[in-house]
Amino acid sequence: MIGQFIDGPLWTFSLTVFLIGVVWRIAAILMAGKRPDLATPKGSAGAGALRAVFSRFLPERTVTTQGRLPLIAGYLFHLGLFALLFFAQPHIDFIAEKITGLSWPAMPHWAFIVAAEFAFAGLILLWLHRILHPVTRLLSDLDDHIGAVLVFLVMLTGCLALAQAFEPLRLIHLLSAELLLIYFPFSKLMHAFTFVMSRSYTGATMGRKGVNA
Ligand code: HEM
Repeated sequence: MIGQFIDGPLWTFSLTVFLIGVVWRIAAILMAGKRPDLATPKGSAGAGALRAVFSRFLPERTVTTQGRLPLIAGYLFHLGLFALLFFAQPHIDFIAEKITGLSWPAMPHWAFIVAAEFAFAGLILLWLHRILHPVTRLLSDLDDHIGAVLVFLVMLTGCLALAQAFEPLRLIHLLSAELLLIYFPFSKLMHAFTFVMSRSYTGATMGRKGVNA
């Protein structure tokens, strides 16, 4: 009974909240508008935007010397999560069956486990850094912690479901993923979509001023 609810209506509800929420948040940002810049452009906004989107993947020298831990942990977490979410067999099967109807080749099981370990190590290190470093602690609010705990919970329940032998464990994993989907659009987790917009906005503004930033 509860299983049917998690598999059926709750899944539909959480996916709908996620999709509408994400589109609504992005539309709100795009419609916020921008004050006209009347100064004569000294460079190309488009080139600045493009440069900023990609150049930010590589850290500034000060970051590589003073912020190595969050940098490495950040890459471990995001790359690990991306790989396991989109290239692990159970996730590909679920996406094909319930969302897109499309499937693609999966990574081997051992790579799935390695990706999960990278993601766990990255997330735990990032969270420890958040609460132990005086500056990040000061900048953090409840939303940061809820987001981290929810993602951790989905990953933990995913590990419990690895044997694929006990139906309630699959349901608990699905339920935690659904809670994450519902929370996502209202949180800073939205950066998964907005990071391109924010980088390109800064890059375009600077590019127009002729600043290589
Ligand atoms: C360490 C990370 C993770 C591991 C080890 C993992 C593992 C698994 C496994 C083994 C299954 C198949 C369960 C079964 O068929 O019995 C599964 C399904 C699933 N996972 Fe994950 N997962 C992880 C992270 C995530 C994340 C981050 C999300 C979503 C944001 C997610 C969403 C799902 C969904 C929606 C299913 C389908 C459940 C179903 O078939 O009803 N997983 N996962």
